[in-house]
Amino acid sequence: MSLPRHIAIIMDGNGRWAKKRLLPRAAGHRAGLKRMISLTEHVFERGIGYCTLFALSAENLARPQEELSAIYELFRAYFTGQIPVLREKGIALRVIGDLSLLPADVAALIEENTKKTEGGTRGNLTVAIGYGGRQDILSACNRAVREGREVTAETFGSMLSTGGMPELDLLIRTGKEKRISNFLLYEAAYAELYFSEKLFPDFTARDLDRAIGEYEQRERRYGKV
Ligand code: FPP
Repeated sequence: MSLPRHIAIIMDGNGRWAKKRLLPRAAGHRAGLKRMISLTEHVFERGIGYCTLFALSAENLARPQEELSAIYELFRAYFTGQIPVLREKGIALRVIGDLSLLPADVAALIEENTKKTEGGTRGNLTVAIGYGGRQDILSACNRAVREGREVTAETFGSMLSTGGMPELDLLIRTGKEKRISNFLLYEAAYAELYFSEKLFPDFTARDLDRAIGEYEQRERRYGKV
């Protein structure tokens, strides 16, 4: 099979990575962000057009304030410092999820700065923040009901926050757990799943290549024989 067009990563294990080193959880998220930057560079260098990353679920927002503040600080740094880098590389950055769950200044910064990357044609990077797959499905359903529209698999897919993106081919989760945790529920219907034992800050470009290599070996039948 050929290279995936759209891959997604559940970046799990930052907290445990820090705990193993007797560091605060925030240090794990910092290491996670460094890893996220290097992996996304690698994805687009390999010619994969779409990469969707799970940074913060709607449910994660119930974490202790101290940890959330550290994550918000990383969002501020990323959505400021990486914007010129992504623009330069022609990568369009988008965020999916409910930004109203974030502090207003962080939400405003994200909205304003992601716009600066619009029109990038070399790759599409989507970061899920305050995101939940069920919430996304329900809000699309409610929209269809409000508009009195009957939906089909195609029109419904286009109403989700990932609407317009190619089908999800490969979903990777790091950090040992083997579940989807409310990420891209509808989109993952026929995605190949890949679970890595490695904690996210330890998941290297070589590990990513291994996941892609395994994807290329698999045969996708979509329920057919
Ligand atoms: C999951 O690990 C990770 C998170 C909840 C936060 C992810 C954040 C980043 C990678 C950095 C910031 C991202 C951006 C977009 C700037 P966990 O804390 O659940 O780890 P654990 O399961 O080991 O506790």
